[in-house]
Amino acid sequence: MPKVTYAQPDGTETVLDLVPGTTVMRGAVTGGVRGIVAECGGNLMCATCHVYVDLDEATPAPFSPVTPDEDELLDCTATPREAGSRLSCQLGLTDRTADIVVRVPESQT
Ligand code: FES
Repeated sequence: MPKVTYAQPDGTETVLDLVPGTTVMRGAVTGGVRGIVAECGGNLMCATCHVYVDLDEATPAPFSPVTPDEDELLDCTATPREAGSRLSCQLGLTDRTADIVVRVPESQT
C-alpha cells in the first residue's frame, strides 16, 4: 500500500497509507489533510490541489509525466510553481508506487 507523507509549511506531517487506485489529492481530502482544497474535485480545472514533489536525480519518477493540460494549469497556482510542482489530483497511486513525500504549499487560493 503506498505511503504518502504530506508535509505542511509549518513542519508538521501527516502520513497516510492509501489504497491503490486513489490519487494523492483524494487521499488528502478523505484523510483530512489541510491545505489541499481540490475545488473542482479532480477535474483539472482549479489548481487548488497543488503540491511539490521533490525527487533527486537518482529517484525514478513515481507518477506519469505532466500532461499539456496540467502544465497549463500549473501556471495558475496560488503559490509559485517550482520544478517539482504537480496537481495532486493527477498523481494516481498504484500498488507499485513507492513511498513519497509531497510538500503542501502555503496557500491554494
Ligand atoms: S482538484 Fe482541481 S485541478 Fe486538481
